Amino acid sequence: MLRFAVLVSGGGTNLEAVFQKMEQGQITGGQICVVISNHANAYALERAKRRNVDAVCISPKMYQSRDEFHEALLNELKSRNIDYVILAGYLLQISQSLVEYFPNRIINIHPSLIPSFCGKGFYGIHVHEKVLERGVKITGATVHFVDCGMDTGPIIMQKAAVVQEDDTPETLQKRVMEECEWVILPDAIKKLCQDKIRIVDHHVIVEE
Ligand code: GRF
Repeated sequence: MLRFAVLVSGGGTNLEAVFQKMEQGQITGGQICVVISNHANAYALERAKRRNVDAVCISPKMYQSRDEFHEALLNELKSRNIDYVILAGYLLQISQSLVEYFPNRIINIHPSLIPSFCGKGFYGIHVHEKVLERGVKITGATVHFVDCGMDTGPIIMQKAAVVQEDDTPETLQKRVMEECEWVILPDAIKKLCQDKIRIVDHHVIVEE
């Protein structure tokens, strides 16, 4: 049984999609052991509590320095024997020590087709604003392993969504979440549980 920790900052609809696939028996061989948020009032924590999954707040505000915060987060994960860390709408930069402790064992969901619309400043609704500004016709979402860069790690899965002429950032965000994020994040976790994901020369191979 793989042990997952999910890091969240907000509503946690991606987390919800994963919980539901687990409850429906579509993901077996893994369990979410803890949900950790940097915001005490993140609704994602409620989604965990409702299922009797440990819900923990670890916020930079609780510590004297960033280093202490990063250390506390890493210690929490270490103490729970976590196999994989899932960033599901986690808005803080994670530390190098965390990446080094979990090499190719941290995955992130990003709401665009990387390498488009990613990197500094491209998070949340801003991604979709930039997509509309640029006038691209296809966008989507990406699940990737996390390395020390920003959105630069090996790509695991991508799924596309069509941009419509009358889209607003909000309608586009909703479509990308429903059609892409809530599909590929649980799918990637399912493949991890089935041991069907490997990295060869910095490229990810996902077995059918
Ligand atoms: C998603 O768009 C995710 O891709 C991005 O932040 C949003 C999180 O949504 N990184 P939720 O908290 O899972 O509802």
